[in-house]
Amino acid sequence: MDSRSTRRRSQDDRLSGADRAGQRRSLGAEEQGSRYVDRFLGNNLTQRRDSSTTTPIQRALRSFGIPLERLHVMKGHMMQDMCKGLSLQSHAQAKVRMLPTYICSTPNGTEKGNFLVVELCQNQVRTLLVTLYGDGNMSPQMMYKIFDMPEGIMQGEGEALFDFIAQCVSQFLAETISSDTNGSDTNGSELYLPLGFVFPFSCRQTQLDKAELLFWSKGFSCSGVVGKDVVQLLQAAIDRQIKQNKQGEEEASETGGVWLSSWRGRKSSQSTPGPLYRVEVVALINDTVGTMMTCSIEGRACEVAIVADKGSNCCFMAEAYLVETAKETSGRMCVNTEWGWFGDDGTLNDIFTPYDEFVDQESSNPGEKRFEKMVGTLYLGEIVRHTLIALTAEKAIFTGTNAAVLKEKGVLTMQHVLEIINNEDGITEVRRILEVLGLQPSERDCGRVQQICRAVMGRAASLHATGLSAILSYMCQTRELETLIVSVGVEGELFTGYPRFEEILLSVSRLLSPECMATLVPSRDGSGRGAAMVTAVALRLAAQRRAVDQVLAPLRLSRDDLEKVQALMREEMERGLCKETNATASVRMLPTYVSHTPDGTEQGDFLALDLGGTNFRVLVVRVTEEGISMASEIYVIPAAIMQGTGEELFDHIMDCIIDFQMKQKLMAQTLPLGFTFSFPCQQLGLDKALLLTWTKGFSASGCVGEDIVQLLRDAAKRKRHLGMQVVALVNDTVGTMMACGYDDPRCEIGLIVGTGTNACYMEEMRNVGTVEGDEGRMCINMEWGAFGDNGCLDHLFTHFDKVVDESTINPGKQRFEKLISGMYLGEIVRQILMVMVQKELLFQGKPCPKLQTKDIFKTKFLSTIELNGLALGQIRAILNELELDATFEDSSLMREVCQTVSMRAAQLCAAGLAAVVEKMRENRGLDQLSVTVGVDGTLYKLHPCFSRNLQKTLKDLAPKCDVSFLLSEDGSGKGAALVAAVAYRAANAME
Ligand code: BG6
Ligand code: GLC
Repeated sequence: MDSRSTRRRSQDDRLSGADRAGQRRSLGAEEQGSRYVDRFLGNNLTQRRDSSTTTPIQRALRSFGIPLERLHVMKGHMMQDMCKGLSLQSHAQAKVRMLPTYICSTPNGTEKGNFLVVELCQNQVRTLLVTLYGDGNMSPQMMYKIFDMPEGIMQGEGEALFDFIAQCVSQFLAETISSDTNGSDTNGSELYLPLGFVFPFSCRQTQLDKAELLFWSKGFSCSGVVGKDVVQLLQAAIDRQIKQNKQGEEEASETGGVWLSSWRGRKSSQSTPGPLYRVEVVALINDTVGTMMTCSIEGRACEVAIVADKGSNCCFMAEAYLVETAKETSGRMCVNTEWGWFGDDGTLNDIFTPYDEFVDQESSNPGEKRFEKMVGTLYLGEIVRHTLIALTAEKAIFTGTNAAVLKEKGVLTMQHVLEIINNEDGITEVRRILEVLGLQPSERDCGRVQQICRAVMGRAASLHATGLSAILSYMCQTRELETLIVSVGVEGELFTGYPRFEEILLSVSRLLSPECMATLVPSRDGSGRGAAMVTAVALRLAAQRRAVDQVLAPLRLSRDDLEKVQALMREEMERGLCKETNATASVRMLPTYVSHTPDGTEQGDFLALDLGGTNFRVLVVRVTEEGISMASEIYVIPAAIMQGTGEELFDHIMDCIIDFQMKQKLMAQTLPLGFTFSFPCQQLGLDKALLLTWTKGFSASGCVGEDIVQLLRDAAKRKRHLGMQVVALVNDTVGTMMACGYDDPRCEIGLIVGTGTNACYMEEMRNVGTVEGDEGRMCINMEWGAFGDNGCLDHLFTHFDKVVDESTINPGKQRFEKLISGMYLGEIVRQILMVMVQKELLFQGKPCPKLQTKDIFKTKFLSTIELNGLALGQIRAILNELELDATFEDSSLMREVCQTVSMRAAQLCAAGLAAVVEKMRENRGLDQLSVTVGVDGTLYKLHPCFSRNLQKTLKDLAPKCDVSFLLSEDGSGKGAALVAAVAYRAANAME
């Protein structure tokens, strides 16, 4: 509402401004002046009641002085507008546009080759060739040429502007480069020259090389460019130019003449023609960004840059997740603030003087870029001129001379103003300048003109300081720092020409942002050198991207791949269920003799063991009508025992049980015990289970083929322990399904994604060929971890998977599990990282001895690295722990590797689960199945995206199944106790 009414007001102003301009032509300077006075007084009467007692000169000077409190308010407004500009919701309303630049990296010194830069400036086009040697960018070689822009191009047709720029590039190449200059890349006889385009106007950038012009400014208004991609326009103009030159060359050779193609470099000898170039525009860069990069080299990161020139602007490195208008969430991205537009919503109206108003009205874009018009050197001379016109009209200045010359727009240039203020020691020079303009000033006039110039310049400097302090405080706040120490690159006529600029900029910004310490870094080479760096970095990153994609491509699965996995799983399930094929199926589909999920009638006190996950637990579970209560203790199983003898393992387990019963004062009674044993067992009954094979790093001897329940009973005998009676053994999937089934009767699937992975579900007895009987259902422990052990998934295994598999104690076994579960993901990531180091994509190819250590990259790192919105700094901390010295780029690449590996795991798991739910749906002849999966496992529980990715893929692959996931809160021991309760009741009933 507010902004709309101000906009309307400024439009009215614009109309009356045009009116005035029309009338002014026929009015004398003095009459004109009285209008200024009226406006001035009208504008200020309410604010400055003492205006009648001050002289016109004092009034004018005072209007340029802005109190510190007002600058504080302005800083606050600027910060608000910056936040608005970054937010996806409100960026359209923001005046400070905060445009993403897609520049997230600074040079790392490995860049090399030739890079062309073309820079569009006021009245000029600058061309530059930078040669980098990959030596830390210490001493780039630079050649440049400046071309003056012909009259009228700035306001002419867009195509003419871009054609002219292309011609400049063409001519520069022809004159500057000899055939022995190496291109970045040679393609046949062509030299590839990447080009960075410095285009100092507001653009909506969607990629480094895609930028739509939003508005012209600074006197440019070429037609047909606004709304277009300027990178494409320049590329098209360059292509046109090449074509034209080639045609010319052909015609010349046909007629026997000599054609000096602009796209051929200088001939190094008479007999060989110069090389042909292929110029590709690879990056569009705002001049502020180029300056920041120029000032960034030689080991000092510069994260803010100000261009205080014809126009004014600033860029800085923002936390990428705050730049909602770009999709990048990690690291930082350079944001081009376009602060020149600040105040266009009226926030600067009270400090905008009538002189500023006149300058605005006479500009090519009235009402726009109000901040820039108070501080840009394109306007400062004009502000002084209008002030002098007004003062002349008030007879406060130039009373003895005809000041009509001041009516001419642009007559007083920035150069004049600089010369006037830079002459402290007397007014002779001031007089000379005014006289050259055709004025005959008195001594007093000269002094006053100098005062006005100083006031206008001083104001420009303090307004820059206010903008800078908004940026600095914003950076400090969003980086959650107490103190921000930062280098600020600066360039532009105001900075180089006005000696007090630096002092005012630093002191005023320090007053406004005392928590920030800025050091100014003057840009020695303008923005061109930085633009070459950006171009070089862009190329390095593009090449790196291709190489990274190549490494990761085999791990990225298509929907087709996943459907195939789902179909194969289904096939293997059928083969596992069928008596004849069971022995050769990779998914064993083991019957569990669990036929019901809990019904709530279970009761009693039970012991439970939970062996095979991250922790070995002993528990006591009390099941009553009111519910379940438990107590448990975690015991350690040393690796030596996991891989020792079976006797040692079960003796150790017994020791733990006895210790637990003593601590819990349960020695006096014999308690029924349910055993969660998370390994594949052929069950012959609830309390008879032959171990088929060890998995997950266990290998205790003398157990495979034996009845695990009996091994535990034997150990009890050895220890003479009578306080327990083993009544049931269940897999952890089954324990989980039972535990969750107690709370949700729809829970008919158990899923584990932890150290290992597996699933169980309720299958129709009629389909279970390996057990007698057709009635009812039985829970089937799928042992899907072994899916693919018969070779059916070989097409999916990457080089990394093979290396990881070969380094395990059970190579060739549990192949599906090795793609998914926590025991292996860190290792897969480590293998990929090693290859990336080898290919010099990571850590700049520096060797990392620590990375050679098996299991150094823990799966929990995957969870930490992928945490949403996590600052890359934290990733670096993890990596430092691994003695890996990672840059921000390295960190985000590592994150991408982790994401790829965990995404594949989640998708494969979903494909497996899709086969299960679809089979259940078909079994039951339903159009739509509604079912709950009880889930457990550290990977599923701790990883920030695994469960989301799993559920999303499952929905996609099995749209007819409505699947809910219920997290098992207290582990599978509770489920084992419930199974024991049923078994115990049945056993007692039989007795
Ligand atoms: C636990 C269960 O919560 O999760 C175990 O109680 C199961 O039975 C385990 O094996 C699986 O997860 P992880 O990550 O410990 O292997
Ligand atoms: C392994 C075991 C399996 C268990 C799974 C999850 O795959 O073979 O029995 O369920 O890990 O712990």
